[in-house]
Amino acid sequence: MKRIEMPAGLPGPVVLLSHRAPVAFRRTDGERTARRGAGGLVTALTDLATQLDDVRWVCAAGGSEDVAVAEEHEGTSVPVVLSDEPRVAEGDTGDDPVVPLRLVDVPSEQHDRFYGEIANPILWFIQHGLYGVWSSPDLGDDEHRAFDEGYVPVNLAFADAVADEVEAAGGTALVMLHDYHFYLVADRVRERCPDALISQFIHIPWPGPDAWRVLPPSMRDRLVRGLLGCDVVAFHTEGSARNFLTTVQELLGLRVDLDAMSVEVDGRTVRARAYPISIDVAGLRDLAESPAVARKAEDLEESLAGEDDQLILRVDRTDPSKNIVRGFQAFGLMLEDHPELAGKVRFLALLQPSRQDVPDYAAYLGQIGAEVARINAQYDDLAFEPVDLRLVQDLPLAVAAYSLCDVLIVNAVADGMNLVAKEAAVVNRNDGVLVLSENTGSHQELGEHAVTVYPFDIRQQADALYEALTMPRDERRAKLAAAAAVVERNDIAAWFSAQLADLAPGDG
Ligand code: G6P
Repeated sequence: MKRIEMPAGLPGPVVLLSHRAPVAFRRTDGERTARRGAGGLVTALTDLATQLDDVRWVCAAGGSEDVAVAEEHEGTSVPVVLSDEPRVAEGDTGDDPVVPLRLVDVPSEQHDRFYGEIANPILWFIQHGLYGVWSSPDLGDDEHRAFDEGYVPVNLAFADAVADEVEAAGGTALVMLHDYHFYLVADRVRERCPDALISQFIHIPWPGPDAWRVLPPSMRDRLVRGLLGCDVVAFHTEGSARNFLTTVQELLGLRVDLDAMSVEVDGRTVRARAYPISIDVAGLRDLAESPAVARKAEDLEESLAGEDDQLILRVDRTDPSKNIVRGFQAFGLMLEDHPELAGKVRFLALLQPSRQDVPDYAAYLGQIGAEVARINAQYDDLAFEPVDLRLVQDLPLAVAAYSLCDVLIVNAVADGMNLVAKEAAVVNRNDGVLVLSENTGSHQELGEHAVTVYPFDIRQQADALYEALTMPRDERRAKLAAAAAVVERNDIAAWFSAQLADLAPGDG
């Protein structure tokens, strides 16, 4: 990725905040090891952080070795080399990019409440529309305690870490907060550092005001107020940005301006904006050319029995919002409709177990396994199983599979963006077809070059899979080329530059 130029007039340094760290330290056989943090958000921010001249990154100390590293630096930031072989920087690091990380450790009970009881089960479920509200959620004493004694103090602890970094830089900085874990941070940072320029990027959908009425005013008003501490609240889609402002209007009674996409709060203007996130196209293509990916691709090719065999792929965390079970049901239905495809089409699912401390996520992983077993059992007599389910987190394997697949299915119930669709579009070399949910942010950019699916309609998804598998080569090729061109035009650098341009003085 290219070095990023900061537009004139922006305060430095950039102070980033995300919950996930870009690196996870472990102790194995007495030795300290480190690996890069997983997930699209952290990957995108790592690409950026390594290209900025003056950056600090505040994030959670995820495990005991992270805490040990933080303690060795007495709670101040740790210089970390963010390369393929991440490590604490010592001596001359050559050309390897070094980023100061402030690893914040909060008491584990507080963190469990913040992350395992409020952020992931409640906020994630509200914002992805996952509740069947006739039966859930039940907000009782535990949930109130989790908010008051988990979400609130953890947010304040991270806000103080961010504010410390800003103060250490002389009180001015461009503060870029990320995601739903930290709705109460901006307000507090503004109190302590009135000269900071503050933006927060929400990477998940923002639903309309009624969805927030699942929470009582004591929670929902506080969350929305917290975000109004920002100068810019950013989303992946215009729809989410508009929903945010109508939420502000309906829940807080403030008059918003939907033409200017802003609201006046305490004599300040808060803007809501949309910037669709993307990927480092050149970096991913380099990886796709690497020997590690070539080896994985060879293995995959061997496991496909005949020349005309086709491969459907999905790559996801095992998150209920990803709609994995309905995707398998649709595949099963398609095989029943078209028995001639049985034995010829394989569904490879590369799934990374996620948030298993949240009961709904643990149950969902069980449902995934059960559905795969049901489908595979129906084709016991075939030489191979129609669904190849692998619970792994293996980037070279995922990239190899992207490059080979005939169809990539992304049928999410809701998804802020979905970078899997963008990744596959730029590395596929088999005229692969995207089967893409209309409820993903990426559908706004790639929908016209994909086969659209409606995530609750299993019949339609089965037909869409068949359409994609039987699409004429020319059409497949043209669609893929058009999708790749869209991603090339709006890559991760363009995503970041657009935000900086809007934040620079003179705009808005
Ligand atoms: C989503 C969220 C990120 C989060 C990631 C992984 O992409 O928007 O903020 O880091 O999922 O989730 P996890 O709970 O494993 O950090």
